Amino acid sequence: MARLNPQQQAYLDAMGVTVWVSQSSPELSVTQPIPESPIVVAAQTASVPVLEDWTVLEQAVKQCQRCDLHKTRTQTVFGVGNRQAELMVIGEAPGADEDRQGEPFVGRAGQLLNEMLKAIGLQRQQVYIANILKCRPPNNRDPKPEEAAQCSAYLFQQIALVKPRLILAVGRIAAQRLLKTDTALGRMRGKVHQHPETGVPLIVTYHPAYLLRTPADKRKAWEDLLFLRKTIKSD
Ligand code: URA
Repeated sequence: MARLNPQQQAYLDAMGVTVWVSQSSPELSVTQPIPESPIVVAAQTASVPVLEDWTVLEQAVKQCQRCDLHKTRTQTVFGVGNRQAELMVIGEAPGADEDRQGEPFVGRAGQLLNEMLKAIGLQRQQVYIANILKCRPPNNRDPKPEEAAQCSAYLFQQIALVKPRLILAVGRIAAQRLLKTDTALGRMRGKVHQHPETGVPLIVTYHPAYLLRTPADKRKAWEDLLFLRKTIKSD
């Protein structure tokens, strides 16, 4: 298992995750072993042709009126980061901060997401970050299935353009929408799934907003991040 450098330790501290380093071996260990898990291949694996370039796609999102969320948004929240990233992080939908700033994961949950990425040696700028929805649902309600359906073509185009080696779905809503399932998040963790439309391998973890409310589960999120790092390295 990988060693923790002082900087990673600081980020884990910021995440609120305690890791144990044994005296005899300065290697990181977690209380529960990460299960060896099969790759779960979703039934439908159609590929998405890339129809748009980034400029056309971004413009289309900016002008989108495919669902009622355009009536209440301040602005669309397209996505941000490295367009050649190996890792793409996909969340649920913009919140109030994101709606104001036009960038995903800029609020408190975003700060924790940044810490989670740093804990596995990634800067926010190295990954590409997007959401299932490009517009904020009023009062932070869950995205409606029809909203997610209307918005999905934009996200699939982003995935097809970035061509990441791995997708990290953060939270139940993102994982369930991407994998077209009602399976509980806990049962989706620790496995490499496959995004049906693009075939990109996909791993699931908790949403940072949930982790802020439920810090006891940060340890499980840390296990998911180690699993992610192991998967991306062995790829
Ligand atoms: N939560 C999300 O899922 N996405 C954001 O961009 C912000 C908060």
